[in-house]
Amino acid sequence: MLIVGICGSPKRKNSSTRFLLQKALEAASEALSDGETKGETLLLDISEYEIRQCTGCDACVRKTPCPESDKDDMPKIEEQIKQADAIIIAAPSYFTSVPGVLKDFMDRSRPMKMLNHELRDKIFGAITYAGLRYGGQEPVIELLHRFALAHGMIIAGGVGSPVKDGPFGSGAMQKDEGGWRIAKEDELAIAASEGLGKRIAKLVKRFNQ
Ligand SMILES: Cc1cc2nc3c(=O)[nH]c(=O)nc-3n(C[C@H](O)[C@H](O)[C@H](O)COP(=O)(O)O)c2cc1C
Repeated sequence: MLIVGICGSPKRKNSSTRFLLQKALEAASEALSDGETKGETLLLDISEYEIRQCTGCDACVRKTPCPESDKDDMPKIEEQIKQADAIIIAAPSYFTSVPGVLKDFMDRSRPMKMLNHELRDKIFGAITYAGLRYGGQEPVIELLHRFALAHGMIIAGGVGSPVKDGPFGSGAMQKDEGGWRIAKEDELAIAASEGLGKRIAKLVKRFNQ
C-alpha cells in the first residue's frame, strides 16, 4: 500500500502547504501500519522536478508518446504515482488557483488519462493554504477535486468532528485577531490535514482487503 503526496508549492523552504501535507502523510502512515498491515508514504516536491509545459499537440489523444517526456522529469513522476493506491495533492492559493508549476504537472498528466484512465480508482485528497482568511482556499480545493474526477480517481474527505473539522486540509496565514502565522501554528489546518490522511489510509486498507 502506497500513498503519494504531491506538494505543489514552488517554495523551497518553510512551505506551509508542504508542512500540512507532511502532517497528512504522517497520520496516513500511522493508520496504514497498524501491526497487521504495512504501508508506505512518499512526498514528491513538484518544484524539484523539471516539468515542461504542455504544448497542446494532442499526441496523447492519438495515444502516441508525449514529445515533451523525452526532455523532462515527467516520466519519473508518472512512474511513482501510477504505483500509488492514493494521491494527496497540496497546493497554496496563487490568485485563488494553483501555482503554475503544479498546473504544468496537471496539464502534462493528460497522457495518463488518455491511456484509458491510468489513475482510475486511486483515492484522492486535497490540501491548501492561503495568505488571507478568505484567500481562495475553496476554489483551489474544487479545482484539485475536478482534476481528480477527470482522471477517474475517487475523492475522499476527512470524517473528524462533524461540527469542527472540514473535509479537506485548509488554512490561512491571516489570523482572526490580526497578524500572521505559518501552518505550524494553525491547529485547525493541522487537524483537518491529519484527518484527511487518516481517512485516506483507512479507505486504502479497505480497498486492499
Ligand atoms: C504569486 C502568488 C499569488 C498568491 N495569491 C494569493 C491569493 O490569491 N490569495 C491568498 O490568500 N494568498 C495568496 N498568496 C499567498 C500564498 O497563498 C501563501 O503565502 C501560502 O501560505 C503559500 O504557501 P506555501 O508556504 O506552502 O508556499 C499568493 C502568493 C504568491 C507567491
